[in-house]
Amino acid sequence: MVVLGIETSCDETAAAVVRDGYEVLSSVIHTQIALHSPHGGVVPEIASRSHLEKLPSVTQEALSRAGLGLEQIDAIAVTYGPGLASSLLVGISFAKGLAWATGKKLLGVDHVYAHIQSAFLTPGAPPLDDSLPLLALAVSGGHSAIAEILPGTRPRILGQTLDDAAGEAFDKASKLLGLGYPGGPKIEKAAAKALGDGGIKFPQGRISKSNPVLGDLDADLCFSFSGLKTSLRSHLQNNPADTEEKIASVAFAYQSAIVGAICSRIDIALGRKKYKALAVGGGVSLNSALRHGLASVAKKRGVPLFLPEARFCGDNAAMIASLASTGRANRSQDAFEIDATPDLTF
Ligand code: KG4
Ligand code: ZN
Repeated sequence: MVVLGIETSCDETAAAVVRDGYEVLSSVIHTQIALHSPHGGVVPEIASRSHLEKLPSVTQEALSRAGLGLEQIDAIAVTYGPGLASSLLVGISFAKGLAWATGKKLLGVDHVYAHIQSAFLTPGAPPLDDSLPLLALAVSGGHSAIAEILPGTRPRILGQTLDDAAGEAFDKASKLLGLGYPGGPKIEKAAAKALGDGGIKFPQGRISKSNPVLGDLDADLCFSFSGLKTSLRSHLQNNPADTEEKIASVAFAYQSAIVGAICSRIDIALGRKKYKALAVGGGVSLNSALRHGLASVAKKRGVPLFLPEARFCGDNAAMIASLASTGRANRSQDAFEIDATPDLTF
């Protein structure tokens, strides 16, 4: 099965062609970072207008790099949530138009589930289906969730952030430190220059079991990153980071708090149940301190760890086409009913 994937949930316009689940024939990503960085974050209207402008040429490029015409595609897969409503609508409308005009099958895909799938596009990784029961971590600008996938089921969230996502925490810190957008790579670069945390300790946001918003979620596997940002702000008020060295120590301590929070939760989850593998996806999975931390937790627990290649950590359409072509797209009877679902959950 050859699937054309379309992704426009946030600020990347992407299209890709994937054969039989895991063979990526092409992956084209047009990033809008230059458009949004003067504003310090993604501006939804600028994002959707840019998707509208770029999506046809990005899709054409994906088809021509794959060496295929539209007639050789079996299905068209598109992200329908979660994400920015106006951005999702551009991709969905485009995909519906293409599918309608060509008579191809249309498949709606969950963006966060697709980030988990991206870990299985790494050469040498087994298919997701051979890695169940799976513990999965999705860490991006909009999401931080720990989920499990059992054979024959969809992912079930065990814990997630109760406020900011991990990537959002990086982005907000970068803004406070005047390092620019997107924050994750800037904080990582600054932290790499530090000799250590300079004695600075930031909180890892533990969640009380009596927190009323928990519902079915496991308090030990949930995150809270908004206090971290507040504590950075008050630290900077008392200790201005006015030299490169001070910025480096603060960035190091801040990154360590996020990495520590994530790795300690994963350690708890891996200790609770026997999983066949740990898979991680999302923009923050590019962070090398996080990669090292997760590798040591997985090693300690004797579980193989699958991480995406750098090109598939952030938003991309290969993960969308891949998930759809392994039969994990939305199962609605009439795919033309797919609607933008900004708060889609598993
Ligand atoms: O998955 P993604 O491209 O988009 C969303 O679905 O949100 O993730 C973007 C997020 C941003 O918050 C960005 O700061 C973060 O991923 N990020 C990183 C790194 N590279 C990107 N965070 C930490 N370290 C990085 N190297
Ligand atoms: Zn994403």
